[in-house]
Amino acid sequence: MSQSHPRISKAVIPAAGLGTRFLPATKATPKEMLPVVDKPAIQYVVEEAVAAGLDDVLMVTGRNKRPLEDHFDRNYELESALEKKGDGERLAKVQESSDLATMHYVRQGDPKGLGHAVLCAAPHVGDEPFAVLLGDDLIDPRDPLLQRMIEVQQEHGGSVVALMEVAPEQIHLYGSAAVEATTDADVVRLSGLVEKPSREEAPSHYAIIGRYVLDPAVFDVLSKTEPGRGGEIQLTDALQQLAADATLGGPVHGVIFQGRRYDTGDRGDYLRAIVRLACEREDLGPDFRTWLQRFVTEEMQQR
Ligand code: G1P
Repeated sequence: MSQSHPRISKAVIPAAGLGTRFLPATKATPKEMLPVVDKPAIQYVVEEAVAAGLDDVLMVTGRNKRPLEDHFDRNYELESALEKKGDGERLAKVQESSDLATMHYVRQGDPKGLGHAVLCAAPHVGDEPFAVLLGDDLIDPRDPLLQRMIEVQQEHGGSVVALMEVAPEQIHLYGSAAVEATTDADVVRLSGLVEKPSREEAPSHYAIIGRYVLDPAVFDVLSKTEPGRGGEIQLTDALQQLAADATLGGPVHGVIFQGRRYDTGDRGDYLRAIVRLACEREDLGPDFRTWLQRFVTEEMQQR
């Protein structure tokens, strides 16, 4: 059965948001370029796509996003300065991001929501299934989620979203899904989706986290999707239509993720992500953990 579904090679990364939650840092710098330890958040996301075998990456950008293109391009001046100094280690770091993937860019123009951003990818993606990765969610490379989603898509066809169980008071921050069990413990079939429901309206505790593998039929549905929550064209609404009528573009499945996810979407989560990732780094972790332990003990004593 897996032979009947085309191989997935393209990843789409929406990166046109204004990043207002991080002002003034994001006045002249895209939020995707904010460092998480010592790497821009967006580089983790591109690395994740590449690790899942997707080496054709389309970024959907907007105004102010030039630094993103520069980051994934060569920087000859810096490279030759580091070469002259014989600093091979830093040279490798500079070259890492430009050697990662084949990068493409398209501008969203009007920021009319995630669904609209995905629709901007239609001419590049064409008639193949593709992945969408949202930059605010970082998935630990030791817990490969996207690979599993691709496997599920190759088995069932249609579209696949990533789901995570969240506390009832958190569900209004996410898209949520009504689910039915399948024979695989980590896979469910979606029968309905709602964007950012209230606690009472939520069909389950399952939240959609920012990873999708989509059938190209989603483009046609998106082009007819009216603005939904927040006056924006919502990807969740298009997926709801696909889930309601499998003849449009196959079924919609969910992979239940229980691994490590770091949210960088708001300031508190961003700080937590940096601390967690810094603790786990082989080079920085040991010293940083010792300092952090002392810092926390002192803080507790003062309270
Ligand atoms: C978007 C989606 C939402 C999803 C979330 C995951 O919302 O619209 O369905 O649950 O990403 O991070 P945003 O966080 O961009 O408002």
